[in-house]
Amino acid sequence: MESICVLSVLLNLCFCMFIMANIAIGDVSYSLLEEMKRGAVIGNIAKDLGLNLNNLAARKARIDAEGTRRKYCDINVNSGELTVSERIDREGLCGKKPVCILKQELVLENPLESHRININVQDVNDNSPVFKKEVIKLEIGESADKGSRFLLEEAHDADIGTNSVQTYTLSRNEHFSLAVSSKTGGRISCELVLDEELDRELKNDVTLILTAVDGGTPPRSGTVTIHVTVLDANDNAPLFTKSVYKVSLPENSPIDTLVATVSATDADEGVNGEVLYEFSHVSENGLTTFSLNPNSGQILLAESLDSEDESSFELQIQATDGLGLVSFATVIIEVLDINDNSPVIIIKTLYSPVPENVALSTEVGIINVQDRDSGYSGQVYCSIQQNIPFKLVPSIKNYYSLVTTGELDRELISEYNITITATDEGSPPLSSSKTIHLSVADVNDNPPVFKEQFYSAHVKENNKPGSSVCTVAAKDPDWRQNGTVVYSLLPSDVNGSQVSSLLSINGDTGVIHAVRSFDYEQFKSFKVLVLARDNGSPPLSSNVTVSVFISDENDNSPQILYPSLEGKSFMTEMVPKAAQSGSLVSKVIAVDADSGQNAWLSYHIIKTTDTGLFTIGEHSGEIRMKRDASESDNMKQNFVVSVKDNGEPALSATCSLYLLISDNLAEVPELKDMSYDESSSKLTFYLIIALVSVSTFFLTFIIIILAVRFCHRRKPRLLFDGAVAIPSAYLPPNYAEVDGAGTLRSTYNYDAYLTTGSRTSDFKFVSTYNDVTLPADLTLKKTPTFVADLEALCDVNDSKSGAVQLHFGPTADVTGSTDRYPGVDGDENLL
Ligand SMILES: *[C@@H]1O[C@H](CO)[C@@H](O)[C@H](O)[C@H]1NC(C)=O
Ligand SMILES: *[C@@H]1O[C@H](CO)[C@@H](O)[C@H](O)[C@H]1NC(C)=O
Ligand SMILES: *[C@@H]1O[C@H](CO)[C@@H](O)[C@H](O)[C@H]1NC(C)=O
Repeated sequence: MESICVLSVLLNLCFCMFIMANIAIGDVSYSLLEEMKRGAVIGNIAKDLGLNLNNLAARKARIDAEGTRRKYCDINVNSGELTVSERIDREGLCGKKPVCILKQELVLENPLESHRININVQDVNDNSPVFKKEVIKLEIGESADKGSRFLLEEAHDADIGTNSVQTYTLSRNEHFSLAVSSKTGGRISCELVLDEELDRELKNDVTLILTAVDGGTPPRSGTVTIHVTVLDANDNAPLFTKSVYKVSLPENSPIDTLVATVSATDADEGVNGEVLYEFSHVSENGLTTFSLNPNSGQILLAESLDSEDESSFELQIQATDGLGLVSFATVIIEVLDINDNSPVIIIKTLYSPVPENVALSTEVGIINVQDRDSGYSGQVYCSIQQNIPFKLVPSIKNYYSLVTTGELDRELISEYNITITATDEGSPPLSSSKTIHLSVADVNDNPPVFKEQFYSAHVKENNKPGSSVCTVAAKDPDWRQNGTVVYSLLPSDVNGSQVSSLLSINGDTGVIHAVRSFDYEQFKSFKVLVLARDNGSPPLSSNVTVSVFISDENDNSPQILYPSLEGKSFMTEMVPKAAQSGSLVSKVIAVDADSGQNAWLSYHIIKTTDTGLFTIGEHSGEIRMKRDASESDNMKQNFVVSVKDNGEPALSATCSLYLLISDNLAEVPELKDMSYDESSSKLTFYLIIALVSVSTFFLTFIIIILAVRFCHRRKPRLLFDGAVAIPSAYLPPNYAEVDGAGTLRSTYNYDAYLTTGSRTSDFKFVSTYNDVTLPADLTLKKTPTFVADLEALCDVNDSKSGAVQLHFGPTADVTGSTDRYPGVDGDENLL
């Protein structure tokens, strides 16, 4: 099938442009007539090689000339057709060589592939035979014998084979005929044969037309005029010493090197023996490369040689004597290759920048090396420097792939200068190198990292809203937006409020601001999470805990729980007349919502009726008899007690206290009058007595009511003794602890036992203790009767036997708690 096809194409050769001759695996050959138009289709190479048309463009299909020679064809990546891109002149390319193969290369990437394309350029009869001169002048002696032959200059036809000169014809004449003979190498020479002797006296010149005809279809021809002058004798033509001179010449020979000397001798004397040399048929290249001295026959090098361009020359030299007799000789010059070409490194493809997360053995570039020398001098080895995560992997022929051998990390090394060194195997070897610059592109592979593992901020309470609290900072080594850090607060709940209502953060600077003023008494510390996120996509983030500690300021005055500030006139304590020195008569109870020194309270009597009679414990607030009470003492005693904390500046509160030194409430007619002036009127006095009586009755009634209420609640909520009532609302709401603030934890309970029935209203402080030394449970265990008593009180509402155990539940922070209540310890006892 194929052969029929080839045959038919062959038949159509004249009309058709080309035939496809042969496909080898990897290689493809085409035959092509020379001088085709640019763009003419040579063949469908994609089809012939079985390549997928669709990905030709993606694989960067292209035609490379072998070596650094010219590129004569192109591939159309859409159709897969190979087209002519340059004038292809067989004569220019191959001269007289019988076979002219043009080597081109199809290169595809990914994976790298190369296919050799051999284009057999076929001759077209596009050159006519040409004679070197327009007129051949011959001088022939009239004595010349019949049958003498005169060698004629050959016509030259650049075409080859049958397209070259095939025959010569001579115009009709009386004297001469033509003897045509073929010589080795297909050359055809012709000689003029004298048929009829010349007679200078009859005709002193003869003009002939010599026509050279080639064998093309249609044939082309060229003519020359032969002008024969009839002379007297010049018997001898010059004679070369050799018919062929063979020399070899290293390609790096300098200009003006003597290549060869031809010499021809002519036996004649005088002008007839003077020989001049000239080039006969020499290629254009040969003419420019060599010069011939017409007199000495010395051939000199006129231009530098390159064996890679032209490895041999054939020069035809003609020797002419003075009267035009010629002879010919050939000089064959072989150009010897020496290692004069360094390898050339060509970066065919470079994928730069390379993302830093590329897989191992990823191809990042394709390198081609070429060396124009032949043999070992043309064998090239390629290498790159060590200690970089790349290597060269030899691919097809002179191609290398640059692949990664390790992980790339832009944050460590962001660019590589890779030096490729190519060395050939000549002696001495030549090498060349080329540096390629490969940059590594960023990938968002690093999350922001905070400089500290956690942050803590100390803020004084009552801070200004908007003040800065602390600054967090995170670093991200990635590039541009992949390394741009944005801060935010993670939403969470802090003691029931949103983080955003407490703090705000500047997303760019990481400065954290307080949104509102903090209150130490509300909370002492809190933690928030700050998120640092980069701007990559997807973004990476990390978080850090910021602990905010609020420090106390003395912004709360002491609060006096007992005696109550309201209802002054009822704040009366009864002191038995028999009270002895040191006995506890009352106690001022105050708390301070602050902590530490700001809540360390001290008590002072600042005004009193009788300065000598009572003292107050500086820190316990207990009022004791300074000496035994005596009859002479004023029955009514009143004080003003100031409670001061230890803050800076100190805050204080005052309260008034009234004491009655009496065993019996009835003895006190002017109870209500105590705060009044002594000189009040009698009428008022009696009125007061009446009022007191009613009040006493009323109070008793209230006490009963309250006792009943206690029973319902089963838990004492009110402290009362006669006219004394401390509502639970006075207890501060929250005395939470500070964690890690360095203050000691100290909870103390006041356990007050009040005899509700007796008018002697004794405060019995069972214990005022530090919970470290004595837990609250233990107190209860130690005094189980009181619990029973309390329950009995509730059940039977018997105020006389009832004892109320009261817990003031304040837990307060103290520093140096051991000396806070000097003289008061767990065993401090009843009056
Ligand atoms: C690579 O070469 C360039 C220019 O020659 C130079 O500026 C750069 O610093 C080099 N880089 C490395 C990593 O050596
Ligand atoms: C950031 O990283 C992503 C991949 O994570 C990459 O595509 C992008 O080009 C990087 N941006 C810059 C500015 O390098
Ligand atoms: C905070 O970071 C830790 C790890 O460092 C992570 O397990 C946790 O999920 C992060 N929290 C938030 C809310 O993103």
